[in-house]
Amino acid sequence: MQAQAGMDRHLLGLKGIGADEINSILNRAAYWAGRTEKVTNLLQSKFVANMFFENSTRTRFSFEVAEKRLGAEVLNFTSAVSSVQKGESIHDTVRTLESMGIDAGVIRLKPIGVLEELAAKIKVPLINAGDGNNEHPTQALLDLYTIREHFREIKGLTVSIIGDIQHSRVARSNLWGLTAMGARVRFCAPENMRAAELMEYAPYVSMDEALQSDVVMMLRVQLERHEHGMIQSAEEYREQYGLTAERAAGMPAHSIIMHPAPVNRNVEIDDCLVEHERSKIFTQMTNGVPIRMAVLERALT
Ligand code: CP
Repeated sequence: MQAQAGMDRHLLGLKGIGADEINSILNRAAYWAGRTEKVTNLLQSKFVANMFFENSTRTRFSFEVAEKRLGAEVLNFTSAVSSVQKGESIHDTVRTLESMGIDAGVIRLKPIGVLEELAAKIKVPLINAGDGNNEHPTQALLDLYTIREHFREIKGLTVSIIGDIQHSRVARSNLWGLTAMGARVRFCAPENMRAAELMEYAPYVSMDEALQSDVVMMLRVQLERHEHGMIQSAEEYREQYGLTAERAAGMPAHSIIMHPAPVNRNVEIDDCLVEHERSKIFTQMTNGVPIRMAVLERALT
């Protein structure tokens, strides 16, 4: 996955990854999803540290469930109650846990580029749980798994990713992963939420065109990453770029709705669509556990 020798057990991103490797992770996730016992001993005696320097519910807890289902010893680091509050750097924090003997680290952080530097310096595998607006590889893998589970094959599908592309690591990892798997990716976003550097990989289309897809993937409006005034109001955003019940009614009958969550209900997606029969939002969360089991297995065995 990474170009440097010895880096192959890290999972820093999906950029550059091939279909064979993605399929191998998805197949292994399917294996874990099919296992009936709650806990195995595959990672017995392995210590995994979850290091979240940014808030999370789904990623953090599904990694923890995955680690415990594989029998690992789990350490949860939360920056709010750590020495980061005394000024300790991310690098020193990770090196501290490495020196205590962890076998792998799951890490979420705000700055971009830090993860690559860390991975080059430390000896244990690192799994990216989301870094800034760069990548969120396990989210995209669980999205790919969900799409494959529904359509049986990803190749040839049209996937529209709608919303705050500029601030979205989910959009980036899905772009790389979906493209590697042979899907056609299109973006739809207001002018001020577009990512200029991605234009060569996926065209921007109108909302009407984006909705005529096999998969309509909505993104959260990331208010916490916005400079002041990126959207006029939630109502106006919903009117122009929200998946409303009316718009959903015009989607092809076979198409599905996805969203990485957390969801701003009645902003990027109407409340009544979140648990709609065409929505995969909670299925995505369910699939996060076997995907993370497969990724941990890849890192540690
Ligand atoms: N989808 C996702 O990454 O959710 P969390 O921020 O809750 O982990």
